[in-house]
Amino acid sequence: MSTHTTRLIDARSPSDRADAAQQAAGILDAGGIVGLGTETVYGLAGDAANGEAVARIYAAKGRPRFNPLIIHVLDLAMARREARFPEAAERLAAAFWPGPLTLVLPARDNCSASALARAGHDSIAIRRPGGFMADVIAALGRPLVAPSANRSGHVSATTAADVLADLGGRIDAVVDSGGTDVGVESTILDLTGPVPCLLRPGGIAREALEAHLGMRLATAAQAPAAPKAPGMLSSHYAPRAGVRLNATEIRPGEAYLGFGGQVPEGPAPIAAIDLSPEKNLIEAAARLFQALRRLDETGARSIAVAPIPDHGLGEAINDRLERAAAPRPAAE
Ligand code: TXA
Ligand code: MG
Repeated sequence: MSTHTTRLIDARSPSDRADAAQQAAGILDAGGIVGLGTETVYGLAGDAANGEAVARIYAAKGRPRFNPLIIHVLDLAMARREARFPEAAERLAAAFWPGPLTLVLPARDNCSASALARAGHDSIAIRRPGGFMADVIAALGRPLVAPSANRSGHVSATTAADVLADLGGRIDAVVDSGGTDVGVESTILDLTGPVPCLLRPGGIAREALEAHLGMRLATAAQAPAAPKAPGMLSSHYAPRAGVRLNATEIRPGEAYLGFGGQVPEGPAPIAAIDLSPEKNLIEAAARLFQALRRLDETGARSIAVAPIPDHGLGEAINDRLERAAAPRPAAE
């Protein structure tokens, strides 16, 4: 793909936001692709209806074509033009939108999202984001597709600087709207089958969805049609360094990703970050991708990771860490 200059648009101060949203909407309207902050992670946004823009997103990320994208909407009215909403979807959207929840729903025949964005599926993944991206969708007036704004297989970006490090020269612009609150991607729930199925743990805990629906969720592995699940690629979110999970001791040359103030045995790590000394899983999720990037930058050969509880947002954290630790395929 051709390289060009990536514009950095500043929206950190509230007085700059409206103007920045207009500028970003202008670039998107013309078919450009732009890094935008949401409440979860930065997304690489394009006009969902513009197949060429969608193709440029895949190219910039180096993303395998079969992986469909999430359609980001302004509100329920915009969502209903793209998909049919079963009763469970109505209830979850009312309770959790805007927020880190993506619903996989039956696509309408006349939905605006390009077939490429859906990778040919007859279902469609929809979410109503918070954060700056919502301002841009309002300015543009139609849905945006937005995968996470990182090179395919890399750690997701939670700052504009991280987006530039991965995608600078490959995309039209990045809007710096500051850090992201949640820090891990949205939870993806498939509502196209008889039982709601958790395809990807994320920023809303499984327990919160189960309490709201009054039923247990199936998980992708148990689902009959074992869907097109996210991060089907088992190696994902991968730093350059190796990743060693459930570490209670440090080995020579390792960096340490801690949790809950645990002190590992062995030599001092070459660098250490504790995700949450207070054992707060929400704080830990918010810091996860930044911490992986910072430890990777130290040049450590491996990152030892403390055990992390598997409840609440711990399920999403452990999912990302397991993918980061998975054997790597040959470079794309
Ligand atoms: O928080 C988030 O969800 C971020 C921000 C930018 O919104 N976006 C994000 O997108 O994480 P991405 O492309 O990195 O992950 C989207 C996942 C993919 O793994 C894809 O497999 C799944 O959503 N997906 C999309 N459409 C689907 C569908 N129709 N059925 C099943 N899974 C789908
Ligand atoms: Mg991603």
